[in-house]
Amino acid sequence: MKVKIKILGLALVALSLFFLAAVYAAGQAEKEESPRRVAIRAGRLVDGRSASAISNAVILIEGERIAAVGQAMAIPAGAEVIDLGKATVLPGLIDCHTHITFQPENYYEDLFRKSPIDAAVVVHIYARRTLEAGFTTVRDAGSEEFIDVALRKAINEGKVVGPRMQAATLAVGASGGHNDLVGFSPYLKFSHFSGIADGVDEIRKLVRFEVKNGADLVKLIATAGVLSEEESVGAPQYTLEEMKAAVEEAAMWGKKVAAHAHGAEGIKLAVRAGVTSIEHGSLLDDEGIELMRERGTYLVADIYNHDFIITEYTRLGYPDKLIEKEKKVGDLQRENFRRAAKAGVKIAFGTDSGVYPHGWNAKQFAYMVRYGLTPMQAIQAATANAADLLGWAESVGAVSPGLYADLIAVSGDPLKDISELERVKFVMKGGRVYKKE
Ligand code: ARG
Repeated sequence: MKVKIKILGLALVALSLFFLAAVYAAGQAEKEESPRRVAIRAGRLVDGRSASAISNAVILIEGERIAAVGQAMAIPAGAEVIDLGKATVLPGLIDCHTHITFQPENYYEDLFRKSPIDAAVVVHIYARRTLEAGFTTVRDAGSEEFIDVALRKAINEGKVVGPRMQAATLAVGASGGHNDLVGFSPYLKFSHFSGIADGVDEIRKLVRFEVKNGADLVKLIATAGVLSEEESVGAPQYTLEEMKAAVEEAAMWGKKVAAHAHGAEGIKLAVRAGVTSIEHGSLLDDEGIELMRERGTYLVADIYNHDFIITEYTRLGYPDKLIEKEKKVGDLQRENFRRAAKAGVKIAFGTDSGVYPHGWNAKQFAYMVRYGLTPMQAIQAATANAADLLGWAESVGAVSPGLYADLIAVSGDPLKDISELERVKFVMKGGRVYKKE
């Protein structure tokens, strides 16, 4: 009797082991199956790199990457077909200057009745809006309390819907400057991670702290700004020595520096210090243009912003002083953008989204065309050039084999009417469809 029970027991154990092995094998087989194959057909393709569009485009996608691209290419059997009809397909767009963790509602309320936790709770909404507007990648140019790092992680893990992200974390700025809270009682103090650093040693230490906590790039406040209460709008806020220290320290960790700079002198100091891009660039002079061209420094100019600040910021409770500062730079920034582009300065698309509502990023294309770019140049500023600036040309910014299947589509021809990009109908990121109208 005992022996019989033992045999029965052994048989049961063997049976269940066999069953488990079978389940495991089935699971493995599923994993080893070739990745999902999708073929997209579209009337036109603007691939982000080539000088002209191709018609009757076919894009083959395997898993999260592009496998092949061609005109009227045969579609392999078994591929799922997404037929976009006459639409124009483009690479997912890249905005090189967002503040995706922030959007102003009221000047004083935002400062004194909210905490970074309020921002952290709603940031997923801005991330989704940005992606659905066709921006599959952003370089975020500064955020409080490492919310950007947490967002990037949640997006990468698939918990939150949003664009691929590079995060600058806290901007690095001088005491009393654009990154500081200026104009209030000296007794007023917030306990938070501070992006204030003065002198070479503090700057190096802050850069190390940021890299340690997940920064992909360093955002350096090279000059005064518009939406901060210091007197000037463009005076330098760091010395050449300090800027050089930031660039050198960032480089040690393999990071690039993006410099916020409105004033002509500060722009030149930052370029000489070796930053990778000048953000805003409002009062750029001839010498600055020449320096940028020589060194291949990118200009990331947020030339849509002015209109939104002028029409909306008084309603949002912003002090007149700041609106007056905006009036000093708005038109000049646009004219200087035109001059820089004409002189051959490298241009990447960046909007400062967050100053205006997230999801409106593409409104800036029309301004870039109005101020001197061809529609193709404006598109490439947000695709190939932007990817180059981010150091991500091998993964994004073009419709090309091996890159991520980050694609968008618009119904008309953006080379004829650039505002088509404000009406994105289809969004795919990493082979997954997020929008299809
Ligand atoms: N964040 C920038 C600043 O406060 C916004 C500048 C917007 N104005 C402009 N004309 N681009 O300096």
